[in-house]
Amino acid sequence: MAGQKEEYWSKFARTYNNDQEYVVGKTILQTVTKKLSEERDLGEVIEFGCGVGYFTKAIAKNARHVTATDLSDEMLEMARIQLQEFQNITIQKANCEDTSFPSGRFDTVFMANLIHVVENPMKVFQESHQVLKNGGLLLVVNFTGYGMNWFEKMKSGIRYLRKWGMPPRYARNNLSPDELVSFVENVDFKGEEVQLLGDKTKALYLRGRKE
Ligand SMILES: C[S@@+](CC[C@H](N)C(=O)[O-])C[C@H]1O[C@@H](n2cnc3c(N)ncnc32)[C@H](O)[C@@H]1O
Repeated sequence: MAGQKEEYWSKFARTYNNDQEYVVGKTILQTVTKKLSEERDLGEVIEFGCGVGYFTKAIAKNARHVTATDLSDEMLEMARIQLQEFQNITIQKANCEDTSFPSGRFDTVFMANLIHVVENPMKVFQESHQVLKNGGLLLVVNFTGYGMNWFEKMKSGIRYLRKWGMPPRYARNNLSPDELVSFVENVDFKGEEVQLLGDKTKALYLRGRKE
């Protein structure tokens, strides 16, 4: 099963950044990057599903160290090239549903555009809870169709199909702020902040805390 998922993602690696820009547009990517850049003192960070590292750079600027992980070798290979100037990023293969990182190892868990494409989000949040220190920060960014007008939604759906074809059958493309908060609160995170960012295309931005 992990092999199939890995294969699915690997074929998008080489052109991922350009394709993502085409599908969601530059504006929302800039909005999310700016908001991430405003996060301070992230400490020791683990990123799940880093892809080619699009948002990893913004995180690394305010972190002591980032361990950027993904399931796909091809994504990681591109991430290695694109993040090579950052001395405080280590790139490592890991399945976010079942990692071997020690409990309480990290100050921050970060994930972008991951939770809508994993089969079981609860497993990812349980894993996040496990690897975080008490008081640690959970930072989740996720593009969503929620709150978009139907015309923009249809246009972005067509752009998505053109670049990436049909999404996985379990994809959650319209995740709402309330759904995201209830996912994290179910595994004992305290939802500190949830925002729906963007104008034509939207992204959820959640900060949760391990108490
Ligand atoms: C939609 S892409 C997002 C990439 C990046 N975070 C971004 O926002 O540009 C989803 C990424 O999650 C990875 N992924 C999917 N399932 C995973 C899993 N179980 N463990 C680790 N990575 C996974 C894929 O390989 C892919 O790189």
